[in-house]
Amino acid sequence: MEFDALDLDVLRARRTTKWSRYPPDVLPAWVAEMDFPLAPAVVEAVRSTLDAHDLGYCESAGLAEAFATWAARYQDWRPDPALACPVADVMAGVEAALRVLTEPGESVALFTPAYPPFFTLLEQLDRVVVPCPLLEEPQGWVPDLQRLDDALADGARGVLLCHPHNPTGRVLTGEELRTVAEIVDLRGAYVISDEVHAPLLATGVSFVPYAASGPAAGAHSVTVTSISKGWNVPGLKCALLQAQPATARVTAAVPAYERGRASVPGVAASIAAWTDDSGWIEELRVHLDQTRAELAHWVRRTPGVRTHPGQAGYLAWLDLRDTGLGEDPAAVLLERGRLAVVPGHHFALPAEQGIGRIRLNHGTSLPLLREALHRMDRAIERHRHP
Ligand SMILES: Cc1ncc(COP(=O)(O)O)c(C=O)c1O
Repeated sequence: MEFDALDLDVLRARRTTKWSRYPPDVLPAWVAEMDFPLAPAVVEAVRSTLDAHDLGYCESAGLAEAFATWAARYQDWRPDPALACPVADVMAGVEAALRVLTEPGESVALFTPAYPPFFTLLEQLDRVVVPCPLLEEPQGWVPDLQRLDDALADGARGVLLCHPHNPTGRVLTGEELRTVAEIVDLRGAYVISDEVHAPLLATGVSFVPYAASGPAAGAHSVTVTSISKGWNVPGLKCALLQAQPATARVTAAVPAYERGRASVPGVAASIAAWTDDSGWIEELRVHLDQTRAELAHWVRRTPGVRTHPGQAGYLAWLDLRDTGLGEDPAAVLLERGRLAVVPGHHFALPAEQGIGRIRLNHGTSLPLLREALHRMDRAIERHRHP
């Protein structure tokens, strides 16, 4: 697969959020969509549903088994397909789990900065958000486990884990997960682990699914996942809510109409992706290693920019406070660089966490990433010497 041969005109003709929000002179590096052509296995699966005029109400036979096959192969984890159910997307699965495992008015802890829809969803469900800010150490982002314990001791009933983490790309180690699990177990709470970015691990990083990190975690968690990030198909609408024996009531509570919101092409594509052995996902990972390295190289040579390289995915959390771009660098990058990134304050709680920060998407070709970095250089330069 040629991940570097992207045509801007083809990309601009896409109907997706990433490519339709801004005028054509703006290069989009914001929302979490990648720019690559789809995996052949995914295209074939979607096409087969169209060829068969197979777009009625969705049944999901084989979906949970396909995920179990993937999990066994790549994550050394054997989740029980009988305890899984389809949902329309990851956020629908997170919502379904929150509704069963927590009550309105109860608190839910999460590591911040955090994926912005988590805040919106918790607010909509009348759950109180308890932020546990990640600590910045010289070696990278570290979960504040004392803060998590305090939150749970104070009555938080749930932990919404983003594993791997958006926006920092941090992957918690097995040991960190086991400590989280001990704390959660001791406090009688639950974990909802969103593992949608897990297929895109950087080379050399090992990933332990939260539920597989030990018996305690298995007894108080559910996992939500999908192919939407790894294979770049959020528009297909299909995700999987995977429970454990002790949390089986979560999937049991998902009504038939909610399960039926997954789409027929989405289910077909998910089964194809999770059982594909063409090597496409491995090639994509190698490519993302290269874009991650290119970004790291740019950070090293650009005064005032700091980051900790991600361990998975294609999103980078950049600290631009010392570039002179001010509190909201995303606004300056858009105006002076014609580059769209996500402002740090969308992810931040407390608000200071987002000041001078942005999230950049490097899920693209090396030439387009270099163009994005060039636009950042230009914006910084123009801002310094207007
Ligand atoms: C951590 C995380 N969870 C969920 C989603 C959204 O997934 P979906 O579109 O399947 O709801 C995203 C999208 O970027 C994400 O980064």
